Amino acid sequence: MKRIILFASGSGSNVENIVRYFEGHPAIEISAVLTNKRDAFVIDRCNKLGIPALYFNKSGFTGSSLVLQVLQCMDPDLIVLAGFLLKIPSELVTAFPKKIINIHPALLPKFGGKGMYGKHVHTAVKTQGESETGITIHFVNEHYDEGAIIRQFKVGISERDSVDQIAAKVQSLEHKHFPEVIEAILLDT
Ligand code: GRF
Repeated sequence: MKRIILFASGSGSNVENIVRYFEGHPAIEISAVLTNKRDAFVIDRCNKLGIPALYFNKSGFTGSSLVLQVLQCMDPDLIVLAGFLLKIPSELVTAFPKKIINIHPALLPKFGGKGMYGKHVHTAVKTQGESETGITIHFVNEHYDEGAIIRQFKVGISERDSVDQIAAKVQSLEHKHFPEVIEAILLDT
């Protein structure tokens, strides 16, 4: 079996969607979810889904090699950031070349970088009067949202769309496409 480790900091709707997609999959399994937020709703989802969840604090992530060691022990085939808000330390990027991917809720290179997450992204898209937005699935390097792009998917928006409506359109693209792209990466298709 190919093993996935998910990282998340928030609600975890993508985590739940990915876990459900791979339930009973013949070749791919979810090993665990790692989070830097002790009270993140993603932990409740993991409890419900029966998926192991591990919390780590900042000292475990950037102040020591704890998370690196845990990951090395678990030996994942892919590390998937699904709403994970911290920057990935360079030791992790180096230890898992081409094995860490992220999803960004806009069409990079537009609307990316530090501070561009969640509502901030959708508000900026609306303020700029964009006629489309979308999602970007990309490899992770040492810089926020700058790794090589794997796939992008677009959706049209109108000036009448509220920020919440834009967010809903983007989320539905994420739920539709992210699991399939993960599967294609792991199965090399
Ligand atoms: C998603 O919009 C994802 O693109 C971004 O963070 C959000 C996570 O949402 N990186 P959820 O926690 O999966 O609901």
